[in-house]
Amino acid sequence: MQTNTKSAIILAAGDGKRMNSAKPKVLMEVAFEPMLDWVLAALRGAGIAPENTAVIIGARAELLQKHLSKSHGGVQTFVQSERKGTGHAVMQAEAFLRERVGANVAGSIGGSVAVLCGDAPFMDADTIAMAYEQHRSGDYGATVITAELDNPANYGRIIRTGNGANTITHIVEEKDCTEEQRAIREINSGAYWFNCGGLLETLPKLTTANKSGEYYLTDTIGLLHSVSAYKAADSRIVLGANNRRDLRGLNAIAFEESINKHSDNGVEIIGDCYIARNAVIGRDTTLLPGTVIRPDVVIGEDCKIGPFAHLRPGTRLADGVKIGDFVELKSANIGEKTSVAHLSYIGDADVGSGVNFGCGCVTANYDGVNKYRTTIGDNAFIGCNTNLIAPVTIGENAMTAAGSTINREVPANALAIERTPLRIKENWKLNDDRANKRK
Ligand code: UD1
Ligand code: CA
Repeated sequence: MQTNTKSAIILAAGDGKRMNSAKPKVLMEVAFEPMLDWVLAALRGAGIAPENTAVIIGARAELLQKHLSKSHGGVQTFVQSERKGTGHAVMQAEAFLRERVGANVAGSIGGSVAVLCGDAPFMDADTIAMAYEQHRSGDYGATVITAELDNPANYGRIIRTGNGANTITHIVEEKDCTEEQRAIREINSGAYWFNCGGLLETLPKLTTANKSGEYYLTDTIGLLHSVSAYKAADSRIVLGANNRRDLRGLNAIAFEESINKHSDNGVEIIGDCYIARNAVIGRDTTLLPGTVIRPDVVIGEDCKIGPFAHLRPGTRLADGVKIGDFVELKSANIGEKTSVAHLSYIGDADVGSGVNFGCGCVTANYDGVNKYRTTIGDNAFIGCNTNLIAPVTIGENAMTAAGSTINREVPANALAIERTPLRIKENWKLNDDRANKRK
């Protein structure tokens, strides 16, 4: 009998029709990351490995499956082909739960399983972990993560046992509320801890005798012997998105939060910048308006970035780097005090320190099939409008002349110039014609 294993089930079979998208709802992004990835990251942070995580998928299951196998190896999926409610969704993972209890269900508690919504990205690792501690601290069949809202509309209401106890008797869905119950402001976040054994015994008892005609997972709460409520400190953990307006709201919250965090860390942020939440930025770096920082970017101290710079995944900037306007970087290591000041694309590149890029430099990193790297030594000078055809290496202190297309190695200290000789034709007749036309 395993009693200490932690696992999780994420409900993600909803169709999200109101998103008006070809994508499944949980793949819609908040701060450049699919909502589902936020939930998976919170689980990992709370000590629940992908191997112990199941996702219930339904609408556009192939797309979800593809995303999970690419980015979250080990996560199991279960298909809910008909959407008959949250209880029905969990029933699809019966085999997963059984594995966690062992063969003999009767009397066995088994491990604990968290059930979460795939479309509520702000549920965080600390809340999940602290709710788990509370769950294990007493003889509880489940622990519901709750929140207090000014406007509880559309959420399930928490019915407490009273006497100041931590325990609750049941959850009532908005549609099934009495007038009195509707006034309750403590709501069900849709996230819970269950004992695997108890959940397995309770699921078959659910019925569709309610206003929605669905199997409500929330009805298990009334059926279990003792259930505690863990009220989250920050009610934003409940926020989800049903449509693109909601999604904009979640993005605004997520970006504001990362801007505040980096400001507190000593980063100077001027105007609107959009920073993925795992970005690392050194202090005294300045971000100017329109800067976009995607996930997996690390920036040193004292850098100047923007306006309108686009730092894509795999960008690593050492200290004192300057990235100016309309510069895009991807999978690029940029050394100390290197400057890419204007209108350039540097992708799949390893660039030394003290390098200067003139305006309009481009790494041609892609031949339509494969990507190749560009390597540039310390203190090289890349002239304006240089095309670097990767794979290619530019040695230390080397220089490329403006307008050159470089398709083979330039040794250290050399000048590479690739240019058709300039021809000048004196007294060009067309100039007279143009002058006459202007008259
Ligand atoms: C549910 C809770 C409610 C809670 C709210 C929090 C129930 C009956 N009610 O209501 O108490 O306050 O969440 O957001 O559980 N899903 C499936 N398959 C289904 C139905 C839903 O996978 O058949 C998934 C959805 O994709 C979503 C999650 O379950 O991720 C919650 O479903 P949703 O329909 O949003 O539940 P609510 O009515 O909001
Ligand atoms: Ca919902």
